Amino acid sequence: MNFDLKKYGDPVLRAVTEKVTEFDDSLPSIIEGMAEVLYNENGVGLAAPQVGLSKKIVIIDLSFGEKVDCILPVINPEILETEGECVMEEGCLSFPGIYEDIARPEKVKVRFQDINGETRELEADGFLARVIQHEFDHLDGILFVDRLSIVKKNLLIKSLRSIAEKGTID
Ligand code: CO
Repeated sequence: MNFDLKKYGDPVLRAVTEKVTEFDDSLPSIIEGMAEVLYNENGVGLAAPQVGLSKKIVIIDLSFGEKVDCILPVINPEILETEGECVMEEGCLSFPGIYEDIARPEKVKVRFQDINGETRELEADGFLARVIQHEFDHLDGILFVDRLSIVKKNLLIKSLRSIAEKGTID
């Protein structure tokens, strides 16, 4: 499937996504199309709303940008437990040029379905935990800038408006 990257301002990024109920042939082609966008844009994680698809699907590049075949498809995820807190710089393919420090739990335990519909659990910390939480937020229509203080978000207003209008902050 051929997808375009959706940027801040597109209403699909604010929609709450639908659960995947059918694990049929369309799923691998969706994952493949998302992986293509992810690699083209040099990202490490991508959520389905970012390609205009309002479904609970996330892909994570477990090689973190090495571009080897390490895509983890994550379907219908939920966070079971979190622990600690840490601040890390985040960016998002839907917000080109914006990078901000965001506080989130340090460790997460998650449950999700794989591409065959099998239930899996995963514990993660560090960068992987960060990517997981960022991408899972997308499935609830939550964007990383929502996790900034009002003051910090206000400082970004011009950049955000620019992305919404022309897709870039330049
Ligand atoms: Co994002």
